[in-house]
Parts: sequence; structure tokens; C-alpha cells
Amino acid sequence: MNLKHIVTANDFDKNFISNIFSLADKIRSNPGKLDILGGKVMATLFYEPSTRTRLSFESAMVKLGGSTISTENAAEFSSAAKGESLEDTIRVVNSFTDVIVLRHFTEGASKIAAKYSNVPIINAGDGKGEHPTQALLDLYTIFSKYSDKGSQDLPKLTIAMIGDLKNGRTIHSLAQLLSLYSNFNIIFVSPKALMAPDYVTANLKKRKVNFTETENLTHAIAESDVIYQTRIQKERFVSKDTGENEYLKYFGKYQIDKKALKLIKNNAIIMHPLPRVNEISPEVDSDARAIYFEQVQNGLYIRMALLLYLFDKDI
Ligand code: NCD
Repeated sequence: MNLKHIVTANDFDKNFISNIFSLADKIRSNPGKLDILGGKVMATLFYEPSTRTRLSFESAMVKLGGSTISTENAAEFSSAAKGESLEDTIRVVNSFTDVIVLRHFTEGASKIAAKYSNVPIINAGDGKGEHPTQALLDLYTIFSKYSDKGSQDLPKLTIAMIGDLKNGRTIHSLAQLLSLYSNFNIIFVSPKALMAPDYVTANLKKRKVNFTETENLTHAIAESDVIYQTRIQKERFVSKDTGENEYLKYFGKYQIDKKALKLIKNNAIIMHPLPRVNEISPEVDSDARAIYFEQVQNGLYIRMALLLYLFDKDI
């Protein structure tokens, strides 16, 4: 398999994943500056807010010897504000760059961009759709904790995926990746109204992955080896005429705090794609099971590995 664009986690296979993970391993064990992508330019075109994803991609490119150009608020500060279509913007940015990292508020935007782009498009989040590079770094973090001998050797693991499973794009991509392995038993924990979309669960059924859906946090976290907590995606909820935003109904419903820690297995890991609001209390941060900041760090290695892959470079 040779991927030109990184648009959906559905395009990945085990071989691709293991290539990316072994590149990331090499980078992690020697994280200095590598002068491999000298002369290459990466554009980060972000129509939605971001801290980690944009900065880690930019840092990854710089660390590989390339350079970056950026619009951090493309919806307001690019020609989109004048009415330019995404297609045209992509065709234009193509003339200046060798790779485009795109975050957009529309589901499917990266797929459209890839159709019009001569250079690789990396989906850095498309609305309520997917976030495939986050899923890679999430899975890499799980492998780093649970596998001793390289990326194909994992024990059986139960993972609780918690929160806004309907709107959370990191969930959608990660569930697709997990479905490639027979190791995972998934417990989806969410209010009924925020359950994972049908296409995600249909894919799990097709690939014969064990999964259950529940509203009960305590049982799920007590049984799990991986706790994957997520934020209620408040920006995806529309306010009612009264000005009340529906997301408030769910805000704070599932919290990992000191009390919850008592229920979680001693050797489990607690992950979060971040940013967190109140779904993991700061008192959890010092617990050895909390690895969300390490997870962020892995994002840098995975994104460096992905850039090397797209430019067909090895180290
Ligand atoms: C996530 C996103 O943007 O989808 N953040 C990230 O990239 N790490 C998760 C979120 O915003 O809740």
C-alpha cells in the first residue's frame, strides 16, 4: 500500500501502521534535528482552532529540516472569507507547497481537497468526521505501553471510549484503527444521544470486533485497561431559541476524578486527545496511570514519521 494522502483511518492497514510506528520509534530514541526534508514546504491550513495538532505538525516539519507556512484561522484570514471555495484554495496553495495539513469544519473536506491537490493532503480533523493522525498517535501510545516486542505484539485489551462519541472525530478514527486488530474489546460509554455513529459501529460489526455500548461509567472503567476520555464537543451543538446550549446537559456527566481513580485497574492507562475541560480533574494528572501528556509528545514523533512516509524517506 502506498498512500498519497492521509484522509481517513479506513485507508490504513497493519503494514502501514507498523511502518509508521517503527519510524516513530527511531525518531523517539534519537529526537534531535534531522536534515532530511530541506527545501520542502508544508502549509497548515486550519479553519478551526487547534493547539497541539497544528504546532506538532509544524514542529515535526521544522525538526525534519523543512519549513512551514500557515494560516491559523483560515476561515477568517484566508480568501475563504471572500467566498473562495476550498477547491480553489487548495489549487492555489498547491503552487507554494509540497504538503498541506488541513483542518476544516466540514465532514469530508479533506477528501474533497485530496481530489484537487497534486501534493499530499493530511486530514487534521474534518468537522465531526475523522482525525486519522490523532488515531495513529493514540494507538502508538497504547502500543508503547502494552507491547514489548514491536508493534504487532499486543495482549488482549479492553478499552473504554468515553464522552461525546457522536461528534468526537478522534473516536471515529481510533475505533476504525482498533478494528484492524483482534486484541481489542471496546466499551463505548456515552449518553444515549451521543452514541457513536452507525458507520463506526457497522464497521466494527463487519470486522467482528467485540464492543458494547453503555451509559454506565463505573462498570466500564473498572473493567478497562485503556480509559480513553473525550470532551463534549460543545461547538457541534446548536443553541436553542432560548439561548440554551444542549451540550450543557452532558457537561460534567462523565468525570475521571480521584474517586474514579479508585475503580481503575492499577496497570491501566488514562488517555485523552486533549484539550480537556472538566472531564478529567487536574488531581488525576499526578497519577502514574495518566499518560495524556506523554500521548501529546508521541504526536510529534508520529507526525514526523508520517511526513517521512509521504516524502518516501527513511532514517
Ligand atoms: C481533538 C480534535 O480537534 O478533534 N483535539 C486534538 O486534535 N487533539 C479533540 C477535541 O477537540 O476534543
